[in-house]
Amino acid sequence: MCGIVGYVGFRNAAPILIQGLRRLEYRGYDSFGIATLAGNVCVHKKTGKVSHISDSAEILQGTLGIGHTRWATHGIPSDINAHPHLDCNEKIAVVHNGIIENYASLKRDLIERGHIFRSDTDTEVIAHLLEEVYDDDLLVAVQKTLPFLAGSYAILVLSEGENRLIAARNQSPLVLGIGDGEIFAASDITPILEYTSRVIYLDDGDVADIRPEIYTVYMENKPVQKEINEITWTPDAVMKGGFAHYMLKEMFEQPDVIHHAVHAVIDSTLPRSLKEAKTITVVACGSSYHAGMIFRYLLEPACGIPVRLELGSEYKYTPVPFSDVIIGVSQSGETADTLAAVKKGICNNVRTVAITNVLNSSITRSAHDTILMHAGPEISVASSKSFIAQLGVLMQIVNLLAGGTCSEVLSHGRYAIEQILLTDITKAVDLCVSADHLFYVGRGVFYPVMMEGALKMKEISYIHAEAYAAGELKHGPFALLSPETPVIAICLPGTAYEVMLGNLKEMKARGTPIIALGIADDIELLEIADVVIPVPPAHQWIQVLTCTVLLQMIAYHTANALGREIDMPRNLAKSVTVE
Ligand code: F6R
Repeated sequence: MCGIVGYVGFRNAAPILIQGLRRLEYRGYDSFGIATLAGNVCVHKKTGKVSHISDSAEILQGTLGIGHTRWATHGIPSDINAHPHLDCNEKIAVVHNGIIENYASLKRDLIERGHIFRSDTDTEVIAHLLEEVYDDDLLVAVQKTLPFLAGSYAILVLSEGENRLIAARNQSPLVLGIGDGEIFAASDITPILEYTSRVIYLDDGDVADIRPEIYTVYMENKPVQKEINEITWTPDAVMKGGFAHYMLKEMFEQPDVIHHAVHAVIDSTLPRSLKEAKTITVVACGSSYHAGMIFRYLLEPACGIPVRLELGSEYKYTPVPFSDVIIGVSQSGETADTLAAVKKGICNNVRTVAITNVLNSSITRSAHDTILMHAGPEISVASSKSFIAQLGVLMQIVNLLAGGTCSEVLSHGRYAIEQILLTDITKAVDLCVSADHLFYVGRGVFYPVMMEGALKMKEISYIHAEAYAAGELKHGPFALLSPETPVIAICLPGTAYEVMLGNLKEMKARGTPIIALGIADDIELLEIADVVIPVPPAHQWIQVLTCTVLLQMIAYHTANALGREIDMPRNLAKSVTVE
C-alpha cells in the first residue's frame, strides 16, 4: 500500500521518479504524484495509473525530487488528495506512507492558526507543521515536527532553496540506495535496484539528511552509523522478462523457488524455539494463512505437535493462547495485522519466529528469529511463488522436526513443479470463464489448498469462488449447486478418496459440472467428472505443491481470458500495512 520514492543526484529527477513509481505500482494505489525542485517546487499529481502520466510531468526540471503512489485511506482518490502535499506557501513538499493518527486535532489547531488546507489527507498536516517551524534548515524543521506526530510514517520532504531530501521512518519501511554522486530513497528496493545494489534500511526513529554525495542518519538528533547491505537480487528480478504478466513469470519461477525455500533452513539454523516447541501458534493473513493451515495438517501427524492457527486480524480480540512459539508468516513482512499479532506474542513472553520474503522487513525487526524464504521479489499482487516458498519452508520445518524423514520427498519438488507447469488446463478454463460462481472442495490437507485456489480465482478473475471442506457442502451450500455452478475438486488416492468420490457423485446428481484434479487413468473419476486434470502420482506433500500450481494456472488463464488486470487487481494492495 502506498509507495514512496526520492532522488537526489546529478540526473534529471522526474524520469527516475516516474520509473520508480512504475516499479512500486504492484503495492496497489489509486493516484500518484511527483515533486521536483527547480528553483521552485514543481508538482504533478493525478488520479489513476502512472502509465497515464502526461508528458508535462516527464519534463519537470530539477535533480532532486520525491514521488508517491497513494492508496486512499483519508479522503477519496482524487488529484487533490494525491501526494505530494505542500505547505501554504508551496515551498515545502511531503510524501508519506502510513497513518497520522492524531491528524484531526493537529489539523484543527493548524486551521485555527491560519493554515489553509487543500486536501482531506492526514499527510497534509506534516507540510503545515513543517512550515511553522522552518527556519532555513529542513533537517531541524523535520526533527522539531516529528514529536508532534502519532502513528506510522515513512516520509520524504524537500524544501525550496535546499539541495537535499530529509527522510524519516516510524513503523513504515524506508530504504536508501547509495549510488555514486546520487542517492535514492524508497519504500522498498524495487525502484532502487537498477541503479545500485548498496542499500541502507532505516530503523524506526531514524531521520536521514540526504544530499547527492553524502548522507547522515540521525537517531534522537545524534548521528548514527548505518550498515550498508549489498543486495543480491538482480534488476531483472523486478522486470517481466518476456512474460505477459508478472504473475505468469512468478509462477514459472516456482521450480527454483521451491528448491531455494526448502534449503532456506537446515537443522543448525532452525530456531531453538521451534526445536523445543510442544505447541505452536501460526499467525498470518490471506494466502500466508492458508500456508499455515497446510503446515498444521502436515506437522500434527508427523510430529504430534499441536498447531493453532490465528488470523492476524482476529488475534487482537483473543487472549494470547498458550503456545511455546508463535510463527508469523508474511511474504511482505509488513502486514499490519500479522505484525501486531507477533508483537502481542512478544509482550506476552512468547518466543516468535518470522517467515518472510523480505530482508529487514518490519516483522524481522520484531520477531526473535527469522527464516527468509528466498523467493525473490514478488511483484504481482496475487501471491504465487511466495506461497510455494512458504510451503517449502514450512514443509522443511516439519521435515527437520521429524528428523529429516522427508528430505528425499522434498528434493522432488522442483521437478514436479517444472512438469506440472506444462499441463493443459484449457477445458477447465473454458468451464470457469462462463461461470459466475465456483465451488472449490477438498478434504484434509487439500482443503486449505482449495482455499488458496479459490482466493486466487476471486482476486484475479473477479469470479465468486468459495472453498469448502468437501464434507461441509451438504450442510447448506448444496442449495446453491446448479448446472451453472461448476465445482473444482481434488480427488486423489489416499485416505479421503472413497468419500470424495461419493461427494462428487452427489454433486453430479444436482447437474453440477465437475472439474477434478485426480489421477489421469482413474476410471471412476473419469466417469463422474466433466474434466479431469491429471495430477502425477507422488507423495502427498508433492501433490500439495502440484495441485496448488494447477489451481494458480486455472485462475491465471481464466482471468486472462476475461481480460482482467491480472498483476494489479482492482481494490487490492500488495502489502496491507493498515489494519
Ligand atoms: C493473496 C495475497 C494476500 C496475502 C496477504 C498477506 O494472493 O497475496 O492474501 O497473502 O495480504 O500478505 P503477507 O504474506 O505479505 O503478510
